Amino acid sequence: MAESMKGLHRSHRCTEISRENVGQTVTVMGWVQKSRNKGGIIFTDLRDRSGLLQLIFEECDCGTEVFEKAAALRSEFVIAVEGVVTARQGAVNENLKTGDIEVRAKSLRILSEAATPPFPIEENSRTKEELRLKYRYLDLRRPDLQRNLTIRSRVATLTRAFLAEEGFLEIETPTLIKSTPEGARDYLVPSRVHPGSFYALPQSPQLFKQLLMCSGYDRYFQLARCYRDEDLRADRQPEFTQIDMELSFVDVEDVLAVNERLLQKLFKEICGLELQLPLLRLTWQEAMDRFGSDKPDMRFGMELKDVSNVVKDCGFAVFQNALAAGGTVRGINAVGQAGMPRKKIDALVEYAKGFGAKGLAYMAIQADGSFKGSFAKFMQPEELAALAEAMEGKPGDLLFFAADKHTVVWDVLGNLRLELARQLDLLKKDAFCFLWVTEFPLLEYSEEGRFMAKHHPFTMPMEEDWHLIDSDPKAVRAKAYDIVLNGTELGGGSVRIHQADIQEKMLKVLGFTKESAHEQFGFLLDAFCYGVPPHAGLAYGLDRVVMLMVGADSIRDVIAFPKVKDASCLMCEAPAGVDEKQLVELGIEVKEEPEA
Ligand code: AMO
Ligand code: AMP
Repeated sequence: MAESMKGLHRSHRCTEISRENVGQTVTVMGWVQKSRNKGGIIFTDLRDRSGLLQLIFEECDCGTEVFEKAAALRSEFVIAVEGVVTARQGAVNENLKTGDIEVRAKSLRILSEAATPPFPIEENSRTKEELRLKYRYLDLRRPDLQRNLTIRSRVATLTRAFLAEEGFLEIETPTLIKSTPEGARDYLVPSRVHPGSFYALPQSPQLFKQLLMCSGYDRYFQLARCYRDEDLRADRQPEFTQIDMELSFVDVEDVLAVNERLLQKLFKEICGLELQLPLLRLTWQEAMDRFGSDKPDMRFGMELKDVSNVVKDCGFAVFQNALAAGGTVRGINAVGQAGMPRKKIDALVEYAKGFGAKGLAYMAIQADGSFKGSFAKFMQPEELAALAEAMEGKPGDLLFFAADKHTVVWDVLGNLRLELARQLDLLKKDAFCFLWVTEFPLLEYSEEGRFMAKHHPFTMPMEEDWHLIDSDPKAVRAKAYDIVLNGTELGGGSVRIHQADIQEKMLKVLGFTKESAHEQFGFLLDAFCYGVPPHAGLAYGLDRVVMLMVGADSIRDVIAFPKVKDASCLMCEAPAGVDEKQLVELGIEVKEEPEA
């Protein structure tokens, strides 16, 4: 039977014990990693969240009764042991923090027995993720996840301390709200008291933090839970956490400056990194032109080059047609890859087609300076030479070209650039290349054929472009910025509109009528009538920050209880049906039987 804790006090975590404690009596508690009975001596590895510690049971130290009890220990039993710290008698284990000591047990309590876990509790588990997520509470015992969550906690604590020091107030905002006009679908919560009405879970605290600025709390932050019903990917979860902030009486530079210092502090404390400030900056236009992406990975070069001018009179119809239709021809240079096997090139062409390319032209520069490729026969030798020169191509290089609309060419080459970098092993996990992307377009054209706010409807157009809002809204740039790390968008924000007339114009471009705008966020527009300070803000995905810090491949590895691709929790099996009684109370009738 499991014993109790009565009269016991843990004196140390496993790895808090070192050679300095030799001779002392300690009380340690945790899980049995493994226990080996070598006849007269039992070696037990004890694990807690700090790490492992070797315990020794020998009859001469602990007596027959304890020894026999120890002989029954199995993996994952929870035990408490009192014993004396000694220098390790056997070989020192260099891989273990406590590898040069052991604790010779005097007493043992079995606090809990354990069934055999469905997978071994060990670092770098090869167990399938589905099984690990079903038994997440066991998975969370593994050292890698314990390390990740410990770092996550430290990031949260450091962030709070830094922002408090900078004069920010931590203020909570509600999570049962009215729908926020942001990109994704809302999660809805039915109201019992108001049948037929629904709360939305916030996609972010956006409107509330702006209201807090109206109320004079001139620097706000929150570690905010956010909910978005969107397609999941490795860096997206339906619920996630933002480090969310808003500041009054500031412009772009002020927001970037305080955030650069925050990043500097976090990455110094957690990763030992010395960030040089100011961080690199690119405008959105430059990022797209040079890297084909609004979140370029700056760990390697392989920049896109515009060769439209070079090929404008050549004989290759694919290039001609794209240019004639107002498009562009651009290329990237895979330096030293002229020998790439045809099969690999064909796979890259297929990869490019996945991003909307109609094809991908390529040309290898041979050792003798001659050209070999998919379109060489359509062009004169001197045209090919001019193209190679424009691409800074040298013998041994492999050049890829896409010809299409700008957006397609950017997307195709931006992704091809990344794929090549993956294949050529250019993405070093220990390099941290930060980048601000600024001056995003204010608007984007949606699939339904109307303007949508690229960031959100409250983002301020750049002063230089105000005059274009009515005449050429597409051309208007926003005072919006993203912080990008190694090709991942860590966070984003903007200066907000605080002038009624500009807000009105913006809402009109977005297709709101006065009535529909008021219905959706009248409370914000009203608040702006009573004296509103200029304000701006930013939000990071905390999960993404920690993911990159620990070098994880997915944010699932830095979230205690994540969901899988179909937004379900494999452990508690949410979402699930509810009692008929609950539905009746809510006035909800489920139309179709859910599929079995
Ligand atoms: P945005 O929508 O860009 O801005 O979100 C800010 C950051 O939140 C993270 N993020 C996510 N992380 C995990 N899973 C998701 N599904 C997910 N969606 C977003 C990203 C992103 O950069 N209110 C504005 C901020 C502002 O303007 O101040 C906002 O939410 O890291
Ligand atoms: P085709 O004349 O269609 O056989 O194309 C000749 C070469 O041009 C092939 O290598 C195609 O993959 C390539 N190609 C076709 N369309 C494009 C495009 N839009 N951009 C770049 N290359 C293309």
